[in-house]
Amino acid sequence: MNVGVFFGSRSVEHDVSIISAVQLMDAAASADYNVIPVYISRDGLWYIGDALRRIETFREFDPMKNGVRRVILDTSSGSGDLWEWPPKRQGIFAKVPTPAAHIDVAIPVFHGMHGEDGTIQGLFEMAGIPYASSGVLGSSIGMDKIAMKQILRGAGFPVLDYMWITRDRLEKQREEILQQAERDIRYPMFVKPASLGSSIGVSRVTNRGELEIALDLAASYDRRILIEVGVSRPVEINCAAVGYGDEVEASACEMPVSSGDDSFLNFFEKYLRNADGKTGESRGMKSLSRVLPAPIGEEMTDRIQQMTIEIFKMLDCRGTVRIDFMLDEHDVLYVNEANTIPGSLAFYLWKAAGLSFPKLVDRMVEDAMRAFADKNRSVYAYDSTILTKVSAGVKGSKR
Ligand SMILES: Nc1ncnc2c1ncn2[C@@H]1O[C@H](COP(=O)(O)OP(=O)(O)O)[C@@H](O)[C@H]1O
Ligand SMILES: [Mg+2]
Repeated sequence: MNVGVFFGSRSVEHDVSIISAVQLMDAAASADYNVIPVYISRDGLWYIGDALRRIETFREFDPMKNGVRRVILDTSSGSGDLWEWPPKRQGIFAKVPTPAAHIDVAIPVFHGMHGEDGTIQGLFEMAGIPYASSGVLGSSIGMDKIAMKQILRGAGFPVLDYMWITRDRLEKQREEILQQAERDIRYPMFVKPASLGSSIGVSRVTNRGELEIALDLAASYDRRILIEVGVSRPVEINCAAVGYGDEVEASACEMPVSSGDDSFLNFFEKYLRNADGKTGESRGMKSLSRVLPAPIGEEMTDRIQQMTIEIFKMLDCRGTVRIDFMLDEHDVLYVNEANTIPGSLAFYLWKAAGLSFPKLVDRMVEDAMRAFADKNRSVYAYDSTILTKVSAGVKGSKR
């Protein structure tokens, strides 16, 4: 089976995605799949080639080297072909697109925009390619921290109080927004771009000066900005789920730990603090300090695992998803966010739950095929006679 592993893309988390994808490709290869790396560059061009399975290729990515070839996707439903692009002239014949690879199932390993957010999922839907991640709906809700909190709250899950603004409003009503945040949310607050990850653009603020800087920073990354109540020294707990439909399982729970008292899990803590001692190499989310399983007792663990499964089902997720929680100083539990394509696919959480990375890939591929077959059970045609009843040259009116 040809498994296309898609990664990179136009996202601030482009580099993190490369690390996650290389980890997943190693696992998929040992699960006996024929792995086809499909790398989308920072400027949105698509490439294939075996060299894309190695981190070294990306230190100074050169599309002209190492047998890397540029391709485009045939978006015709059911094709699954990647064409060499631009097409080459063949002797005296005109330029004809030639298939360079065929994809039976896609595993999107993007983080952030243009890949984790429902956009490429929509493309796979259009092209009729089975894929191993949440669908368009779950992916786009998971990507937008504002919509996600509104939906979680609407469904009765505990979330921290928040307000949200647009960049446009920030430009026009700055003073009003500052006052509203100070009145309704109060310091310490967290300011976040709605649709980023890896803590990029996230700030903890304790006074007006910091709030202003944080809002401008978030506005440089996104049109939509979340302002949220800050929890002092939160205990963070993450739990993953895998499955499709009604068959969903939760992983072990982890407790990520940050080094300082008042600091939060920023980009450095997540990916670099425990990088390889000799080479300084990041191991993606594997580099984060964590306690696994989280020392929170059986009851809290059960509750978090149950909620993780419920949220997975509510957002119609698929593949593996990680839901992040926070406990405040009184042990009150809040859902922080849903990551529909978590760093390193959260394989370390699955390992702790007895599921190896290759087996996790198996499960994701199986669920992708099940979801695809399930979708194809629905009918996409409706035999109407309206076209024959519309007289030529007359515009039908829509009632
Ligand atoms: N309301 C909050 N109170 C305390 N800490 C927070 C809060 N929101 C976020 N954090 C800290 O910031 C980190 C990043 O925020 P998060 O919402 O998870 O964004 P990202 O999608 O970038 O991971 C969290 O892991 C946590 O350490
Ligand atoms: Mg997070």
